[in-house]
Amino acid sequence: MTTSSYRIAPSILSADFARLGEEVRAVVAAGSDWIHFDVMDNHYVPNLTIGPLVCEAIRPHVDVPIDVHLMVKPVDRIVADFAKAGANIITFHPEASDHVDRTLALIREAGCKAGLVFNPATPLDMMDHVMDKLDLVLLMSVNPGFGGQKFIPQALAKLRLARARVDDYQRETGRQILVEIDGGVKTDNIAEIARAGADTFVAGSAIFGARDPDGGYRGVLKQLRAALEAA
Ligand code: DX5
Ligand code: ZN
Repeated sequence: MTTSSYRIAPSILSADFARLGEEVRAVVAAGSDWIHFDVMDNHYVPNLTIGPLVCEAIRPHVDVPIDVHLMVKPVDRIVADFAKAGANIITFHPEASDHVDRTLALIREAGCKAGLVFNPATPLDMMDHVMDKLDLVLLMSVNPGFGGQKFIPQALAKLRLARARVDDYQRETGRQILVEIDGGVKTDNIAEIARAGADTFVAGSAIFGARDPDGGYRGVLKQLRAALEAA
């Protein structure tokens, strides 16, 4: 796989929220492909973050896709709000929806790309009967709720399984499904993660933690890309 087919999506969970517009502009200017937007409800996950209002507020600052990761339960009611707020991609955890197929359809009807998110212990089987409604699958390599956690190494074996499933599907149908990884992605493990089958990489603390020294956001994005190039 060439580097151009890899996407890097900074998670704004680790950004300076008092200067969010500036922060998203800075990471996009530094070469990010997407903005990853973590929505937590203090119910499905033990933390509370941001909603459609903030999505709408950052939308005019960037022209790259906004990748909304919903860690909320229930899911359906909030989908249209995010679509209106300018989201391009919406993913959710199958455990958080009583009707996964319906939720995927709702996201697509709202004009967004749709994806399922798999927690570290969630089996991939949930994707089997909804492949035609999936634009991406997101594998969690930490338990959702917080930035700055350590990458769970078992996620690598799971990535290989997910990659095999989407590759089989692509061979049969010609349609591509992206494989995204989220949690603990750093410059020193991104190559191994790419080799295991990810094509889209969320990185929060690794990117926003590089605020000034060592070349700032541009520097860390360059290092991530160089590692991918070598993968
Ligand atoms: C965790 C979030 C992640 C998180 C990633 O629940 O879904 O997107 O912000 O942060 P890092 O890259 O610091 O693990
Ligand atoms: Zn996320």
